[in-house]
Amino acid sequence: MQQSMHGMWSSRLAFILAAAGSAVGLGNIWRFPYLASDHGGGAFVLVYLACIALCGLPILIAEVMIGRHGHRSPVLTFQEIAAQTGASRAWSGIGWMGMVAGVLILSFYSVVAGWTLHYTWLYLRELLGGPGIADPSATFGELLGNPLELTLWHAAFMLMTVAVVALGVEKGLERAVKFLMPALFGMLFLLLGWGATTGHLGDAAVFLFKPDFSRIDGAVFLTAMGQAFFSLSLGMCAMMTYGAYLPREVSIPRAAIGVALTDTAVALLAGLAIFPIVIQYIGTPTGGGPGLIFTSLPNAFAQMGALSGLVFFFLLVVAAWTSSISLLEPTTAYLVERTRLSRRAAAASVAALAWLLGLASVLSLNRWQEVRILGFGIMDFIELVANDLMLPLGGFLISVFVGWVLSGRIVREQFEGVPEAVFRAWLVLVRYVAPILVGIVLVRGVMARF
Ligand code: PHE
Repeated sequence: MQQSMHGMWSSRLAFILAAAGSAVGLGNIWRFPYLASDHGGGAFVLVYLACIALCGLPILIAEVMIGRHGHRSPVLTFQEIAAQTGASRAWSGIGWMGMVAGVLILSFYSVVAGWTLHYTWLYLRELLGGPGIADPSATFGELLGNPLELTLWHAAFMLMTVAVVALGVEKGLERAVKFLMPALFGMLFLLLGWGATTGHLGDAAVFLFKPDFSRIDGAVFLTAMGQAFFSLSLGMCAMMTYGAYLPREVSIPRAAIGVALTDTAVALLAGLAIFPIVIQYIGTPTGGGPGLIFTSLPNAFAQMGALSGLVFFFLLVVAAWTSSISLLEPTTAYLVERTRLSRRAAAASVAALAWLLGLASVLSLNRWQEVRILGFGIMDFIELVANDLMLPLGGFLISVFVGWVLSGRIVREQFEGVPEAVFRAWLVLVRYVAPILVGIVLVRGVMARF
């Protein structure tokens, strides 16, 4: 089958933008800086970069490749490959686990994206003459303490996500990403320039790039690996699904390298832009937690003007939006293939489920703050299970599948026109390096965590 029933990207650029749009999101601008803040800066960043290069990139190529071979949703793609090659149908379990992980991630992702919607509104209100944010920590605390407000923003964001996915590949997904990704880059540079005027750019760079190896332990490795998968949207078949809509003539390794470089550049740029401001107003770059950007950046925006805050949070909403659609797409595509639901109804049902689950995260920030699962709050626990366990496990299985189970002919076919040396290097990474590293990190990380 050359075409997917869900539609196809109109060009190579459209795919790269969509895949980069999926990758670049809250993971880069909200999660990466606060994880770096909590896990010792440079040491975490170094491990993270190694995870991206040695495991993330080869698995990204593998996912897109499987997707393009199958042209369907992940579960059906694995089933079809199993039928073609005599491999066990159990491999489609990767697709099932991916759908579960996607819904779990979407549930809290939408809650955090709701925070960014709330901040966009706060700055819009200020611009229209309303009150500004006088005390950033108090403002953030008030938001987290208000379940109703959190729930409404969470609902608003989920509706935005459904709206795009319901429209389908070309009209929805593709149109949304074309204009807004470049704008995001521009805004980050602006913030970087402003951060430089605080005089702390050098300190920020030292914090981010000078590793203190005493901070590295099994848990840091697991967090960094989980973040690498989360940031590149790997291990849950989102990239595989996007690969299913990719036309034959596009070179997968080139596109994947473009996506991985963009994603990493945005994360590092966000770190360099945000930490000078954190150091200036919070005093220390460490221990910022999930509120890091929400409690530090408004200090800078108070001086730069409400418009800067509005633009920043609006772009962050967009970045989150182009990611959340890729969390919803795999399960939607599966339901469209397997049931009689229309695309619209399928997208809405999955989103409704994720929204309901998200209420647990909402409540864990206030009413259920004391509830602990294995020592973690509810939202942290969902993040841990989905990001740090399910995504790396999915990535591990995908690399084993592509490296050891899939027939060489199918693999080589997808690499048409790719230089032999590049192909060989990728094969070594996907067969040996990635599964071994991810496997070790998973086992040791789980032992360190629990
Ligand atoms: N990569 C996205 C981000 O960094 C999150 C995401 C994870 C999207 C998994 C799709 C799949 O924000």
